[in-house]
Amino acid sequence: SRTISLAVIPGDGIGQEVVAQGLKVLAAVLPQDVKLETKHYELGAKRWHATGETLTDAETEQLRQHDAILLGAIGDPSVPSGVLERGLLLKLRFAFDHFVNLRPSKLFPNTETPLAGRPAIDFVVVREGTEGPYVGNGGSIRTGTPAEVANEVSVNTAYGVERVVRDAYERAQARPRKKLTLVHKNNVLVHAGHLWKNTFDRIGEEYPDVTTDYLHVDAATIFLVSDPERFDVIVTDNLFGDIITDLAAAVSGGIGLAASGNINPTGDFPSMFEPVHGSAPDIAGTGKADPTATVLSVALMLRHLGLEAEATRVEDAVTADLAERSGARSTEEIGDTLATRVSG
Ligand code: IPM
Ligand code: MN
Repeated sequence: SRTISLAVIPGDGIGQEVVAQGLKVLAAVLPQDVKLETKHYELGAKRWHATGETLTDAETEQLRQHDAILLGAIGDPSVPSGVLERGLLLKLRFAFDHFVNLRPSKLFPNTETPLAGRPAIDFVVVREGTEGPYVGNGGSIRTGTPAEVANEVSVNTAYGVERVVRDAYERAQARPRKKLTLVHKNNVLVHAGHLWKNTFDRIGEEYPDVTTDYLHVDAATIFLVSDPERFDVIVTDNLFGDIITDLAAAVSGGIGLAASGNINPTGDFPSMFEPVHGSAPDIAGTGKADPTATVLSVALMLRHLGLEAEATRVEDAVTADLAERSGARSTEEIGDTLATRVSG
């Protein structure tokens, strides 16, 4: 028998509601011989207002002891922009070296897409998670004057690019279509662009059965709308990945279904799973939030922890639930239905 030690950070707004449903489905899908131990960490806006703290070193150290982290959503209009993002979410991604930010996009049955003709969308974005402009390397001079100069430096290291590109090749090779697209902007961002493209081509020689493709990020946004079926695995940097995964969510059923994993594939640190959506303060407490993105994030977590059959069971339950649903349902009703499906 085995025990999974899970840290739970419900966070702000609807984060609390969707995480409760994610945990319900998780408990229902785990086999008898896998025990689940959860520990809740109440971090986010409330905590910041009360103490001025976002995440202490002691808490980071505690979180490190878990096998994985499930996070709901962080952010509230009452907190200045950037405080919780930098002080909590990004701090965790950097502290636990989550260099693979995995974001699958799949068009489920009976879901809406703004695209004509219901394309069969099924791709995954491997977004770099620890470099790029997210590092916070930059600064401004003559700040607040008409002569202000503000720099945000995008950090790209050979080490950081190679490890994420290699991970993307591995994922592409494991999929039926075996296709990997690099998205960058190497016609303008020539320094980082060359590092990415050269690394992509060099590592590609080790994966002769993977078909490769390169797109500038602006062109990629066109194809994500006009021909999303051309994508299988996409690898890209932190900021391009942030932008194109919101677009990918919008064309494949909306942000209510988009799951993500902040993964450290080495296992040296706990990986963290979270819905792509935010805390949606406008609907918090109304029971209108869709917990499906969190449930799909739980599936990514199960797969990362080696529980492949359970991950598939959760994904199949979501597919069946979406195919058969009718009418508006509350957060809890969706969670209950999915929990029943995975245990049945
Ligand atoms: C995301 C979010 C974050 C990001 C923000 C909240 C810092 O947009 O997870 O995509 O930019 O990575
Ligand atoms: Mn984003």
